[in-house]
Amino acid sequence: MRVLVTGGAGYIGSHTVVQLARAGHEVSVVDDFSNSRPSAMARVSELAGRDIPLESFDVGDVERLGDLMDRGRFDAVVHFAAYKAVGESVERPIAYYRNNLGATLAVVETMVRYAVPHLVFSSSATVYGADAPVPMTEQLPTSATNPYGWTKVMNEQILRDAVVAHPELRVALLRYFNPVGSHPSGRIGEDPSDVPNNLMPYLAQVAVGRREKLSVFGDDYDTPDGTGVRDYIHVEDLAAGHLAALDRISAHDRPLSVWNLGTGRGTSVLELVHAFERASGRPVPYEVVDRRPGDVAASYADPTLAERELGWRATRSVEDMCADTWRWQQANPDGYPV
Ligand code: UD1
Repeated sequence: MRVLVTGGAGYIGSHTVVQLARAGHEVSVVDDFSNSRPSAMARVSELAGRDIPLESFDVGDVERLGDLMDRGRFDAVVHFAAYKAVGESVERPIAYYRNNLGATLAVVETMVRYAVPHLVFSSSATVYGADAPVPMTEQLPTSATNPYGWTKVMNEQILRDAVVAHPELRVALLRYFNPVGSHPSGRIGEDPSDVPNNLMPYLAQVAVGRREKLSVFGDDYDTPDGTGVRDYIHVEDLAAGHLAALDRISAHDRPLSVWNLGTGRGTSVLELVHAFERASGRPVPYEVVDRRPGDVAASYADPTLAERELGWRATRSVEDMCADTWRWQQANPDGYPV
């Protein structure tokens, strides 16, 4: 297939582009580098074994996106491009709604105009809101606790409505749990531009000596060791889930599909800290502090629908996730070269 990947230079996008190209798809990337680096694309091309065509503009620019769709004759779009920081979304809600909704609207509008049928959308387990029971199934109602989360809920709704009015569309909503890890080569990985918000990149920066210690946000949750439990999924497994979703929606007639991409296993903050210490051979100093507002005790997937319908399952362990994150972090202590 000819596939356009928006946000293809970003963390999950870059890993997915490599896998799509290696599976024989003709991939193009559009990315404005608002939260990624051009040097990531050079490495993506190196790992893909060929030059990945790249256009650098904001996907919300419907004129430029239309022009690209017109020229590209794509069969599918994998749409990652979005802002993703929860705290920042509370401070800049209007920017988040404009960017994240504007991008999806531009994508789906130009897909309809240029008859591109298949869309894989980057959603999140954040759409299960605050009080969802675990393991989480796709049937749960959606809601959110912050503007970032609402942009995912609203984008899902936009796409649900779009497939009703445009029956030629085939859409997959992929709800990611907690993506971590990196390509086993250590050439591409997660490169937060500021202080990391998420646990794994923070841990990695402590282990490599860039930060002094980890703050553990609460140890009085109703979980086995009191710290938050999450479903960490290796980014290589996650990327493979996109390929499986694309295969499935192009071979079946269902207009809209929703799949959780997780392992189904929960890991606590302290379990991840200790796994990372073993993988890196370095101590990770930490201090328990107050809970982070908005955090839930436990979040993990029921991944059985994706297993059944996609024939996909996550195969990499927490040890693999830590070892691959560490390889990337050690080889690139300051992230990508500017
Ligand atoms: C967060 C977002 C979620 C988003 C996801 C993207 C919040 C409330 N949720 O999920 O909307 O889709 O990232 O990957 O921000 N922790 C620490 N110390 C740290 C960082 C995290 O103890 O410095 C703990 C958290 O309390 C949590 C666990 O580690 O228990 C995982 O946190 P994080 O990596 O930020 O992911 P989520 O909160 O699950």
